[in-house]
Amino acid sequence: MSGIIVIGSQWGDEGKGKAVDVFSAEADYVVRYQGGSNAGHTLNIKGQKKVLHLIPSGIFHQNTTCIISSGVILDIETLVSEIKTIKESGNYLNNPSKLLISDSATVSLHYHKVLDQARETASNNTKLGTTGKGIGPAYEDRASRKALLFYDLFTDEETLKEKLSKALSEKNFLIENLYKKKPISLKDTLNQILTLREELKHYRCQDTAFLIYKALKENKKVLFEGAQGSLLDLFHGTYPYVTSSNTVSGSALIGSGIGPGFIKKVIAITKAYTTRVGEGPFPTECSGEEGAFLQKTGEEWGATTGRMRRCGWLDLPALKYAVRINGITHLALMKMDVLSHLKEIPVCTAYNLNGKIISDYPVHSSKLSLSKPIYKTLPGWQQDISNIKKFEDLPTAAQDYIKLIQEETNVPVDMISVGPSREATIWRSQLF
Ligand code: IMP
Repeated sequence: MSGIIVIGSQWGDEGKGKAVDVFSAEADYVVRYQGGSNAGHTLNIKGQKKVLHLIPSGIFHQNTTCIISSGVILDIETLVSEIKTIKESGNYLNNPSKLLISDSATVSLHYHKVLDQARETASNNTKLGTTGKGIGPAYEDRASRKALLFYDLFTDEETLKEKLSKALSEKNFLIENLYKKKPISLKDTLNQILTLREELKHYRCQDTAFLIYKALKENKKVLFEGAQGSLLDLFHGTYPYVTSSNTVSGSALIGSGIGPGFIKKVIAITKAYTTRVGEGPFPTECSGEEGAFLQKTGEEWGATTGRMRRCGWLDLPALKYAVRINGITHLALMKMDVLSHLKEIPVCTAYNLNGKIISDYPVHSSKLSLSKPIYKTLPGWQQDISNIKKFEDLPTAAQDYIKLIQEETNVPVDMISVGPSREATIWRSQLF
């Protein structure tokens, strides 16, 4: 068993980019298996900030091969520009075989974004606060068997035109008649694809599932990199304020096409506090000074949309729920340094729902919005921890914060991040 699934345990933006980049130093393969360019994974490579939306966070390691598997929504415009930026930023991706894209990944085009954004602003729709990247409409196409898959882009021009024309006839009907927007041009869309496919043809892989299977059989180290977070899962999150894919660990198997027997660990990337972008209930959200402190110190604005993230305290019932639905075996605690200068740190340990104390996470939005957090307040450590390399050297109050998380979740915290760089990482056990 040499597969490790890395997921976010909260509402995304937990720090998966940094974690996967650090883990990738030991990995042979890194696989993205769900979501699309709605993700924004931030990395710090030798002091330089890099943001990835679609390309796996292992791309800055020379010995790691990155795979985009069938479960991903491929925004081909973003992908081409991301490849270009990576190539220009240094000695990366010189060899196209370091990035392999599944022929059966779902393609998203401009009309998916137009529909996504039109729905967000339509007066008769619930505003979800999506990223506007067209992820929902693209997964809808996949489910209704109308999607263009990556291999479709490489068929002859006539066949491609026919497929696009079919797709556009329905989309343009909605865009024009329901949302009162300008229709999308078939000619422009076709021309865009013809240009972009020239760039993308070097990365085609007929069967990434087989490749991953073979790698696992040969005991190669494979990391499965999740996007978004568990509470945004389409089936198990705070519906309807969720994304349109499954973000829990099981999705790694489905999205990449392998069986559960290969999985050694499920590592949950967890921020030391909580953030959320977009709409939906968030019981531990802090308004006022405390929220502003977390936002500013943690630089909490979206890597994809630039929106300010809503900030609040760590929610242990939510984390325990994530442990249950993902089968989490290890935790990686991110951004501990952001809490460094607080005198006291509240942590939610239970809820009061209509006068009843509950410790199970009330995931349904209608219940969650009525739930009032009950806090345990821990003393802060009030000192810089960003250069500390060993758990034992952390201030006692910081160690106690971590111990509380371990005791409540019954899961070990194996990695602690104390700053954005690769070096600002405390390890407590081996990864693979
Ligand atoms: P969508 O995934 O663009 O459809 O957006 C649905 C919800 O998921 C919105 O609340 C988004 O803000 C949220 N979301 C999507 N991707 C991310 C992410 O990578 N980090 C945090 N929130 C996300």
